[in-house]
Amino acid sequence: MTHQIINGKIIAAELRASIKKQTAERLSQGLAKPGLAVILVGENPASEVYVRNKCAACEEVGFYSLSKSFSHGVTEQELLELIADLNNNSAINGILVQLPLPEHIDEEKIIEAIDPLKDVDGFHPYNVGRLALRMPVLRSCTPKGIMTLLKSTSIPLEGKEAVVIGASNIVGRPISFELLMARCTVTTCHSRTVNVKEHVQRADIVVAAVGIPGFVKGDWIKPGAIVIDVGINRLESGKLAGDIDFDAVSERANWITPVPGGVGPMTIASLLENTLQAAQLQSQ
Ligand code: GUN
Repeated sequence: MTHQIINGKIIAAELRASIKKQTAERLSQGLAKPGLAVILVGENPASEVYVRNKCAACEEVGFYSLSKSFSHGVTEQELLELIADLNNNSAINGILVQLPLPEHIDEEKIIEAIDPLKDVDGFHPYNVGRLALRMPVLRSCTPKGIMTLLKSTSIPLEGKEAVVIGASNIVGRPISFELLMARCTVTTCHSRTVNVKEHVQRADIVVAAVGIPGFVKGDWIKPGAIVIDVGINRLESGKLAGDIDFDAVSERANWITPVPGGVGPMTIASLLENTLQAAQLQSQ
């Protein structure tokens, strides 16, 4: 079977171009630039790269961005005070706290301190609850990006069997809600699932977000399936690998996302979409 690549790099670039245009239109109407604040704690090299990329993307589309970095030893109180200031700062429409946070900081408490209408990560219980109830406001970035990729195939999702591998708060759970909202029949597999392969074998849509390189094998895939790889795993060789055994899976799948250049670029493009949406919500 010949497979088609879902090119996240191109789709994300188109999305950024559209956001840039909408931002320029806002400015011409006398509205302020959308503003994003990014908070980084500690010295996690991967997080530092993500934060730099997020701020560079803001610059590209004409947003205002503010990055606040703290040493590992910052207190919960200091972060809560900064978030309270940003909640009250009208130049800031979106607040993002890069995860993970050090162990002495309660992540839930930090996320819940963010004004839900500035929660551009879509992690606040208000936004997760709204999504679960099919009334989304700000939707988590990676799942939102995956839905944009699925839409780009023009394949109707209604009634499809979707199998998500991974049940994290950042990807697995919210993408399961997204697919359910798109009227798929959804199965969420996790670390205690017995026989993941058996679930994947009946899937029309597979979303892998496990963090184990090559976890999904070629013979797990139903011929003609759409396969979305969320994994970004750094191999010892320095190469990036997804959670899918790409060569074997692409022989059976109809549509597949590559790593890199699939889901990755969509996360930041969705963050920009959310920041623009937050600015619109706040100027209503
Ligand atoms: N860490 C890994 N992914 C994400 C994300 O999408 N947002 C934030 N804030 N932290 C992350």
